[in-house]
Amino acid sequence: MSERQTILAIDDTPENLQLLKGILMPQYSVLAAISGDAALKIVDKTRPDLILLDIMMSGMDGYEVCRILKSRRDTADIPVIFISAMSGVKDERHGFEIGAVDYITKPVNADLVRARVRTHLALADQQRSFKIMVEERTLELEQTQGAAIKMLAEAGHYNDTDTGDHIWRMASYSSALASAMKWPVERAAMLELAAAMHDTGKIGIPDSILKAPRTLSEDEWIIMKTHSEIGYHILRKSDSPIFQLAATIAHHHHEKWDGSGYPDGLAGKAIPECARIVAIADVFDALTMARAYKNVWDTDQAISMLREDAAKHFDPNMVERFISIMPKILTIKKRWDSREAKRS
Ligand SMILES: [Fe+2]
Ligand SMILES: [Fe+2]
Repeated sequence: MSERQTILAIDDTPENLQLLKGILMPQYSVLAAISGDAALKIVDKTRPDLILLDIMMSGMDGYEVCRILKSRRDTADIPVIFISAMSGVKDERHGFEIGAVDYITKPVNADLVRARVRTHLALADQQRSFKIMVEERTLELEQTQGAAIKMLAEAGHYNDTDTGDHIWRMASYSSALASAMKWPVERAAMLELAAAMHDTGKIGIPDSILKAPRTLSEDEWIIMKTHSEIGYHILRKSDSPIFQLAATIAHHHHEKWDGSGYPDGLAGKAIPECARIVAIADVFDALTMARAYKNVWDTDQAISMLREDAAKHFDPNMVERFISIMPKILTIKKRWDSREAKRS
């Protein structure tokens, strides 16, 4: 490191501070604090690379200063070395317990102080680069996963008559309904990504059926319905929680509350909650989105249809929740409509 590193020395005896300065300068830039309070004021403005801390001080003692430093996010990573005349295993142990990295006894030996400081600065440096590396890898993984989700979600609709907007809009509705069903924030956010993949299995359905501009024959319907199991088999290949959730959704998003849905004919609460949520969001969006071959339903018509189908197709309790958050749903819808309008 080319820049001079900064050491903060904290001791209530000015002579000791002078001594430490003499030992560490000019190799390091040394800041001195005569009390715990003064030290905390300094770390508010500058972040030292290492702290040498006297234990026995009038006012706030070294242990207390250390505890405060370790509890603050911006200072928790700064290595603290205790310097004190107090010697004994018990004091040392207490210092380590509250987060110190080392312990030097007075009277201090100049070479030893320099050696310990050098070692702990190097260790802290190493830890910092390791942390940065882990953060970079995590970000990279998240971006890769996000891209994979987008690709799978879009792939399912590639040959479909639906626009790509449908999957993302219904995904937003799904997460809004999940929040209304008291799902924790992170899980509702995860559902948003997973829901977008609900029709991934359509990738396995022939164009002639997906794009048929007419009512499907009975045989064609049988093939069409396999998209839920195809999607399930594709998505369950991953162990990650998000794809597991997506696999369950793909599998069961066409089940109906009264047991008349597919593929398993599950009824009531035997249908996974995530799939019950997505079923409502999916149908509501299908009804209210503009498509070339059908008339758009207005919101009131769509709401009465959901109510009519509650307890037949949908979880009745969830339908009421969905209707109760309609202002939020319509805000999401408006956002997407204006995006669509800009494009056309
Ligand atoms: Fe579907
Ligand atoms: Fe859909």
